[in-house]
Amino acid sequence: MTLDPDAQKPRLDMETLVSLCKRRGFIFQSSEIYGGLQGAWDYGPLGVEMTANIKRAWWRAMVQERDDIVGIDASILMHPQVWKASGHVDTFVDPMVDCRNCQSRFREDELQSDVCPTCGQRGQFTEPRMFNLMLRTFLGPVQDDAATVYLRPETAQGIFVNFENVLNSMRRKLPFGIAQIGKSFRNEITPRNFIFRVRELEQMEMEYFCYPETSLALHEQWIEERRNWYARFGLKMENLRVRAHAKEELSHYSQATSDFEYLFPMGWGELEGVAHRGAYDLTQHASSSGKQISYFDEERKEHIVPHVIEPALGVGRCMLAFMTDAYDEEIDEKGEKRVVLHLHPALAPIKVAVLPLSRNEKLTPKAREVHALVRKHWMTQYDDAQSIGRRYRRQDEIGTPLCVTVDFQTVEEDNAVTIRERDSMAQVRVPVAGLVDALRDRLPDVV
Ligand code: GLY
Repeated sequence: MTLDPDAQKPRLDMETLVSLCKRRGFIFQSSEIYGGLQGAWDYGPLGVEMTANIKRAWWRAMVQERDDIVGIDASILMHPQVWKASGHVDTFVDPMVDCRNCQSRFREDELQSDVCPTCGQRGQFTEPRMFNLMLRTFLGPVQDDAATVYLRPETAQGIFVNFENVLNSMRRKLPFGIAQIGKSFRNEITPRNFIFRVRELEQMEMEYFCYPETSLALHEQWIEERRNWYARFGLKMENLRVRAHAKEELSHYSQATSDFEYLFPMGWGELEGVAHRGAYDLTQHASSSGKQISYFDEERKEHIVPHVIEPALGVGRCMLAFMTDAYDEEIDEKGEKRVVLHLHPALAPIKVAVLPLSRNEKLTPKAREVHALVRKHWMTQYDDAQSIGRRYRRQDEIGTPLCVTVDFQTVEEDNAVTIRERDSMAQVRVPVAGLVDALRDRLPDVV
């Protein structure tokens, strides 16, 4: 933990988090045995549970709990003309410079001075060249320009090109949205900060189609919706801020964008963008494909090209924010350090751990029976290795909200077990017959 210069309070440093993520099976370096691959990370057994929980929480709020948004899952490979029309072929670029001395490559806009961060030489940078961030591959056996396709750099275009399909098949009325979760790829010049800036990412994007005259108000409304989502899943509001993009920062498609920034271990960084894309994408695809892409308003008897509001974020960044926010080091009653992730139960990878007091043969069958009962409802772990205190600590460190302990009293006297809460460490005894209900009461917003 280091002292945060802004907040003047201890803040998690990235090495501590990276180490916890590896040690406890959340995130591993990609291809680690070969020295790793820059900008690519693998989600381990707990990481994959947590990202699934984040995606479920987003989908519930965006699709399940609303009447006006539906989901799709478009392919990663799309017709190359999509990226010409969307502007990505011409404008999805970063300025790149090379150090003539050590050949390191940097994004020009991220350099602080003319000193190379790798070799320390001054004034050795080449003139900036524009570098397109899309990853390219070939379809079919012939590797020439005609066969070139891109790995999508954003999921959004899969939504825009399906606008008419969804409109007609689902009989939608404006305003309505289309949500999508999926992988995107960006050939970042300098991937860094763990899972913050990566070359393969999973996005959660929603395009909200609306009447042009309502779009500015809806942009504001979506910023509030998204803020409420973070609050609902426990993110501390003092670590979240909204920043409107200056005109020169706006993406090529955007009329206005506000970023949610989070106080990550390395400082404030973009967590989510809420962009006003206007009619840009639908208009571009209509003129490029020669198809009519519009909404027919029955009352006004006219075709409208809707405007679009887009809340968009990466699953990995979202996980990094929730992990950072939840991390705490406490001193327990015995004066020992307790590392705990105060994750919202809906996001915690494991909801309940079942722990027999010891490996005594009298306890094992009952503990297994209790485990079988609980695992039908939630992700669980069964752990009987080492002392009960150490097992509680292991569960605290991965954010498990509840532990259930089976002891001799359970088998010899009352057929009841102890529920121990992660945050308060309070313990309560409940009969096995009422255990599932008692756990459910303590797992709010968990489905
Ligand atoms: N669609 C917005 C983004 O990819 O950031």
